[in-house]
Amino acid sequence: MCRVLLVLSAIALQACGSSDAARQGDSSGPIEWKPPEKECPRYKELHDGDGFELRTYEAAEWAMTTVGKEHEPIAALFAGIGNLVSYFAGANEANQTIEGTVPFVQAFHLPFHEHGGHHHRKHGRDGDPPHHRRHRQHDYVFALYIPRDLQGKAPKPSNGTNVRLVKTSEYSVAVRSFSGFPKPWKVLRELRSLWRALEDSESDIRFHREVFFLASYSPPQQLRHRHTEVVVPVDLQRTEDVFSYI
Ligand SMILES: *[C@@H]1O[C@H](CO)[C@@H](O)[C@H](O)[C@H]1NC(C)=O
Ligand SMILES: *[C@@H]1O[C@H](CO)[C@@H](O)[C@H](O)[C@H]1NC(C)=O
Repeated sequence: MCRVLLVLSAIALQACGSSDAARQGDSSGPIEWKPPEKECPRYKELHDGDGFELRTYEAAEWAMTTVGKEHEPIAALFAGIGNLVSYFAGANEANQTIEGTVPFVQAFHLPFHEHGGHHHRKHGRDGDPPHHRRHRQHDYVFALYIPRDLQGKAPKPSNGTNVRLVKTSEYSVAVRSFSGFPKPWKVLRELRSLWRALEDSESDIRFHREVFFLASYSPPQQLRHRHTEVVVPVDLQRTEDVFSYI
């Protein structure tokens, strides 16, 4: 069970992921999503409504792996999962089995740079995500959170795992949750919805369009009540630090 960060303020604190998909009108069926049993990174919920959540994640240590851009997406996904799972299963200098965490995070770069990376709602609705890309510009990056009791003291990955330990500073993101399997068309639909919600927001949130994260909380074999999030960095604080790792 994910523990929540306790803060005595009006800011609502959440366990990992919220059950918002149910309220946000995803038509993929009834959702009774519960916070996962596995540990997840802690965050403060700054906002929840108008089609998005705003969260600030605590500084944390992650296991990350990079798979070459020459791979097909599915092959890259399996390689990324394989690398991280082998590290958690004991391919580390202590031969230690590490308790699994959620979410499984994949970073995506989008190929628009015309607007210089920062976007503001005043720029309008240009630049929808593309449906296809012929050539990937970037390698694939995957990450799993290191469990709380090993934060800062996780065993080094064994040579050959292609896993590295990375410490992220506190960062803020906008999040939209959805159910069902994260098929590419659905991910792009949800990403567009998230962008539009941010553009339409009264709060003038500055967000990044050139990168997003897909955070998967449900294992592949789970068929019902799946929970996935599209996540974009926002400029509340120190989001630039996140970019240095991907
Ligand atoms: C881990 O396993 C390898 C191979 O079995 C062994 O050589 C090594 O000493 C083990 N390391 C630790 C810290 O137990
Ligand atoms: C792992 O790689 C490091 C750096 O290249 C090297 O110093 C070390 O001996 C390697 N360890 C093993 C077990 O191969």
